[in-house]
Amino acid sequence: MNDKRITTGFSRLDKAQKINLVSSQLTDPTLFSNTLYASWHSDPAVQKMYDEFSENTIGNFYFPYGIAPNFLINGRMYMLPLVIEESSVVAAASGAAKFWAERGGFHSEVIGLEKIGQVHFTWNGGYALLKTHFPEIRSLMLAHTERTTANMMKRGGGILDIELVDMTDKIPDYYQVKATFDTRDSMGANFINSCLEEFADTLRDFATSNEAFAGYNLQVIMSILSNYTPNCVVRTWVEGEIKDGHTYDDFYTDREFVKRFETGVRIAQVDKYRATTHNKGIYNGIDAVVLATGNDFRAVEACGHAYASRNGEYCSLSRVEITGNTFRFILEVPMALGTVGGLTHLHPLAKLSLELLGNPDAAQLMMIASAAGLANNYSAVKSLVTKGIQKGHMKMHLLNILNVYLATDDEKILAVEHFKHEKVSHTAVNNFLGTIR
Ligand code: MEV
Repeated sequence: MNDKRITTGFSRLDKAQKINLVSSQLTDPTLFSNTLYASWHSDPAVQKMYDEFSENTIGNFYFPYGIAPNFLINGRMYMLPLVIEESSVVAAASGAAKFWAERGGFHSEVIGLEKIGQVHFTWNGGYALLKTHFPEIRSLMLAHTERTTANMMKRGGGILDIELVDMTDKIPDYYQVKATFDTRDSMGANFINSCLEEFADTLRDFATSNEAFAGYNLQVIMSILSNYTPNCVVRTWVEGEIKDGHTYDDFYTDREFVKRFETGVRIAQVDKYRATTHNKGIYNGIDAVVLATGNDFRAVEACGHAYASRNGEYCSLSRVEITGNTFRFILEVPMALGTVGGLTHLHPLAKLSLELLGNPDAAQLMMIASAAGLANNYSAVKSLVTKGIQKGHMKMHLLNILNVYLATDDEKILAVEHFKHEKVSHTAVNNFLGTIR
């Protein structure tokens, strides 16, 4: 029966007490606690740091850390670190990277790096009065945040603009202070949120101390960055020749292939069911780099999906252009990434991932992550419009199925050989193990 009692004081228990308490909820408490203890880092100091990333940590949850070599991006070769659990993603990224490395690689440019934050507030004194005083409020906001922005300004960033937005057509008396920021190589969430809370204080103080505002009511509802950054965007593309032979596929000629590929991508531009899966394939690559470098994949995904709906209908983030004998596959995606701050230099593997990538700045990391997204998108659409996805996918999934049936290393070798020419499924693998056991 489900125990509905409220747990109190959990965060105050020490780690062993937490593990004991949680273990008692499971059918095999010893298995659970042993699995958790085994997940701890061998160096207690490192484990303590992991524990301190988040409250109530009792163990580590492992995800594979893989490498996709041969990413040639703007003429420089990279090995990409990818943190992902899905079997075929690293293989798909590597396959596409090698193919395109032989054809000039990925080309990439950052279109903008601007971040946004908002103070949402209500005010019953009308837009005109607020607008008249806003230049003064704005100057006070800039002056009051000088200490917070000093360091960022030394690095060339800071507050770019502060504007007043009238939202009363949506909600009565609702307005925004909308600010734009340049946060240089940091993702900037803490910097932006600190500035916004200071803007909110300034606004509140102005409303209570300025005579012209007397008798009206101003309420700050909330101050928070927006994860939607449509002006923090990277464009990445590959381009290849359309020849008479079979550059892209063994079965389809180049002309047939690019036509099928273009149609596959266009479907994701007009149909949101397909677009969601298409974009998910893009984020297979992007998220894996974002995670490996200690960045916030939820922010990156949320922003990308909002951007995919910017014209009113959710659609593909990538597109195809065919001009003459040139096939171009382009991904345009917003992404707020950092290469300083946050976990980037605290998480041991995130720090090393950045080193592996040549310690990129935020703009370079955007180009790298988007190349991973485009590579995965290319591989997925290519498979879909040629031989289908399942054959390759299930081949990669074979080891997972063998592990479910507790196959030995010898059995795995035999199974991998056998399934080179057979269709992989749970039943087929189980039957095969039956014949060799
Ligand atoms: C699977 O993780 C991703 C794909 O479904 C993407 C796509 O359909 O384009 C293969």
